[in-house]
Amino acid sequence: MSVIAVVGAQWGDEGKGRVVDYLADEADLVIRYGGGNNAGHTVVNPHGHFKLHLIPSGIFYPGTRNLLGNGVVIHPPALVAELDELAKAGFDCDNLLISDRAHLVMPYHVLLDQLEERERGAKKLGTTSRGIGPAYVDKVARRGIRIVDLMEPDVFRARLDAALPRIGRMVDAHRGADDELDAAIVQATDAGQIASAYLAAGERLASHVVDGQAVVDEALERGQRILLEGQLGTMRDIDWGVYPYVTSSSPIPGGASLGAGLPAVRIDRVLGVAKAYTTAVGAGPLPTELTDADGEALRGRGVEYGTSTGRPRRCGWYDAVAVRFSVRLAGYSSIALTKLDVLDGFDRLLIARAYRDPADGREWSTVPASTSVYERLEPMYEELPGWQTDTTACRSWDALPPNARGYVERLEELAGVPISHVSVGPERAQMIVRTSD
Ligand code: GDP
Ligand code: IMO
Ligand code: MG
Repeated sequence: MSVIAVVGAQWGDEGKGRVVDYLADEADLVIRYGGGNNAGHTVVNPHGHFKLHLIPSGIFYPGTRNLLGNGVVIHPPALVAELDELAKAGFDCDNLLISDRAHLVMPYHVLLDQLEERERGAKKLGTTSRGIGPAYVDKVARRGIRIVDLMEPDVFRARLDAALPRIGRMVDAHRGADDELDAAIVQATDAGQIASAYLAAGERLASHVVDGQAVVDEALERGQRILLEGQLGTMRDIDWGVYPYVTSSSPIPGGASLGAGLPAVRIDRVLGVAKAYTTAVGAGPLPTELTDADGEALRGRGVEYGTSTGRPRRCGWYDAVAVRFSVRLAGYSSIALTKLDVLDGFDRLLIARAYRDPADGREWSTVPASTSVYERLEPMYEELPGWQTDTTACRSWDALPPNARGYVERLEELAGVPISHVSVGPERAQMIVRTSD
């Protein structure tokens, strides 16, 4: 198989970075196709423990090239900071490529993200405050600034000068509210400061900038193995997620084709990544959320705290409706199930196989478009016995305790696609592969 898309099947943080790090051993090119430094992809491998935000998770293999695709939005200073961190760990990242068509996240996008959240008050989306939404808004509104512009200082300055008056008008209403905010507004809209910081970052990044499509085309031509690394998950997809509690890009494989510059028909296989239970950061409906001791146990054992923001993740039982919805949208060839080990020691495990609307008794086997309906749906659970055995040392399917196998088989039945990989720990080697196709 030459092109595999690795896609989040839930609300994000399923372990995409971990799975890409595992698979990239055999990849020639890894491409991040969407999102920005709202991502937090944790990779634990023989070189150490890394938190990646923009840089694709294949970066640790010197022979694997890693491309930030045109669909990604890049905050240049954040990318430089990430490169510096990796350099400290001994990775020069010569194998990083950046598409010249990728859009930039500007300081005023970060500011607008924060101001918009403030204005939403109790209806906050709980964004990562990284400016992702406003950056994509500018892209779609045809006033974005791209990496290719950053490579031409005069063009960059001109586009910045053209953008700032509008931003100034947008933030006017917020001036004078408090000193800290006033200072933030000045900083985020100061053409001179922005230009010097961004052009300096641009110089640092210049040697990595390429025509992304040409790189992809050549890799396809040569029959190279390509991994497409997703950001977030289906339930936060701009079209298919729990609107408006979504991100501003498309984590599903359709987004991979657009955001990598790769014809959709060239994707050979789609690997959905699903956690053995549910987590989410940010607001919005989460039917299986647990606010009791079981939820605490999942958060504690799974170390469920946001990689980018440190926020405690909301935790709950596995939601088979959400995953099946994702299977239908993304067309997974198979699923990589992560964090099975976190369930070690539970007496019983619940799985939401459907939802029930308490208002009219209707049973739902899919995700409703209406977020207010979704908010009131209750999970209809089935219960499976747990296993009181440590699975972290298991390296084969047969080595798993029978109840763990039973749990995985039931999830597989409910998803309607095979579970090809089972992860029992964050480390590269803690992976059980069930099929080899
Ligand atoms: P991503 O955003 O989808 O890449 O996922 P994150 O990195 O944000 O969150 C997944 C977390 O779970 C990371 O801290 C991983 O190191 C960790 N992890 C991944 N797979 C496993 C697993 O099978 N078991 C355990 N215990 N941790 C895992
Ligand atoms: P990875 O790639 C988990 C969530 C935010 C918020 C919503 C919109 O590590 O899975 P945004 O900043 O994108 O405008 O926020 O999406 N969110 C994530 N949740 N993992 C992520 O990335 C996320 N990126 C954004 O919490 O609910
Ligand atoms: Mg994450």
